[in-house]
Amino acid sequence: ATGPDLFGDSRRNSAGFDLFDTTELARIEAARDIDLPDRAEPLIAGPVQGGARHDAHNPASGAVIGKVVLASAKDVETALAAAKPWSAPVAKRAETLRRAADLYEDHFGEIFALLAREAGKSLPDAVGELREAVDFLRYYAAQAERLENPARGVFTCISPWNFPLAIFTGQIAAALAAGNGVLAKPAETTPLIACFAVRLLHKAGVPASALQLLPGEGRVVGRALTSDPRVQGVAFTGSTATARMIQGAMAGTMAPGAPLIAETGGLNAMIVDSTALPEQAVRDVVASAFQSAGQRCSALRCLYVQEDIEPAFRKMLIGAMEELSLGDPWALDTDIGPVITAAARDEINAYIGAAREQGRVLHALNEPGRGSFVAPTLIKVTGIADLEREVFGPVLHLATFKAGEVNQVIADVNATGYGLTFGLHTRIDTRVQEVADQVHAGNIYVNRNQIGAIVGSQPFGGEGLSGTGPKAGGPHYLPRFTRAAVDTVED
Ligand code: NAD
Ligand code: ALA
Repeated sequence: ATGPDLFGDSRRNSAGFDLFDTTELARIEAARDIDLPDRAEPLIAGPVQGGARHDAHNPASGAVIGKVVLASAKDVETALAAAKPWSAPVAKRAETLRRAADLYEDHFGEIFALLAREAGKSLPDAVGELREAVDFLRYYAAQAERLENPARGVFTCISPWNFPLAIFTGQIAAALAAGNGVLAKPAETTPLIACFAVRLLHKAGVPASALQLLPGEGRVVGRALTSDPRVQGVAFTGSTATARMIQGAMAGTMAPGAPLIAETGGLNAMIVDSTALPEQAVRDVVASAFQSAGQRCSALRCLYVQEDIEPAFRKMLIGAMEELSLGDPWALDTDIGPVITAAARDEINAYIGAAREQGRVLHALNEPGRGSFVAPTLIKVTGIADLEREVFGPVLHLATFKAGEVNQVIADVNATGYGLTFGLHTRIDTRVQEVADQVHAGNIYVNRNQIGAIVGSQPFGGEGLSGTGPKAGGPHYLPRFTRAAVDTVED
């Protein structure tokens, strides 16, 4: 589904690719042989010095897939000195972003291949990611045409590796659509995709001074770009801990009032009560917890199943887990690709190992035995309070609750302080509203999975430790990149 046009912007989301259509599959398959870009480097409006160099790796195989030139301190200074708002009229900016969306779609082959090779994305995930990226470009272009507020100036955009195209593009598209200049720092592990995307945006007509790319480490390049008074705002997506660091860096250096738009981590729960349709709930639990190898901020981490149905439900869930296949992200029968690095694999496996020693592992699949794969695992907990942190992989925790304890479950979920996604499977109509009224979460999903928000229809973002708002892909996002009326008056 492309989603309803809830905000009346006369725009339709991308139809994406139909992976059941053999003609479309043949087009995608042909992309395996395309020559892929194998170099990422600073793309700045001035001479590039270049800092440290390192190899880019394929997480599934460990193979070297390219070279990365990081931005030096001098490159960061050159970019900051050259950065300018994008002063073109809004109609021109919108047209340019729409052209970029078309270019992204034209280059689907390179994009899918890069997403698989650099980020380990399965084909369905890569299709979804490209759709989301082009939807962001077209959605913010349409939103900008209705916006009257002036741009703030220059934004730093810092993105995570788990949506190396969609979130990377979404932040940039919003800042540019509103007329800002952008200094973009991609995640350390996905600079090839970022570099390819910025080249397409430049090709579409975004000026070099309005969009500069600075690959580098967070604590070096990211730190420099979030602690400079020449920057008027920061859009950040990543962990809650990093958001806190950025908040501190900004507070000491940037003008008071420079916005931090932060979308951060989650400890997401789902309730399945005894009235739920078990086949549907199992399918949605598996997608929510294990799709993208659990590397989604929105992913389900703690499943609460009503005690009466738990034994039967668990049996069905384990059966469904057994059907999942791990392997080559490009293979059509692969459900789950690798996690992003060998270090991430080892950290997640250490967590699973500790749970195993405590006798809490209820079920785990076999690993392929090579590459950075983690076997989808089900771990017993008494409740969400047992989860000390967000484990960013295919690990699902299972708890039970008794009839009459739903309010206590919600209180426990709220007590984590996170508030990103929440899932509910029930056929009790009144329960839906009761839960929605009580639970602190940005996105609440009923009788479906809890991942994959659709731009323009399901604005996405959390509260509390999960983000500052406003929600991405919704009508309140773009104004945050502008000087709202109240700011203008105060100025
Ligand atoms: P991360 O916080 O480690 O890194 C995110 C980005 O911040 C990277 O580009 C990194 O280089 C940069 N960074 C790190 N330290 C920095 C510093 N001191 N100053 C400036 N920049 C710095 O997160 P990650 O591991 O890349 O991504 C996974 C996390 O992102 C998870 O917690 C996940 O829940 C969250 N996430 C949230 C959303 C959302 O929409 N809420 C979406 C995707 C991912
Ligand atoms: N927007 C992404 C999702 O909903 C993170 O899964």
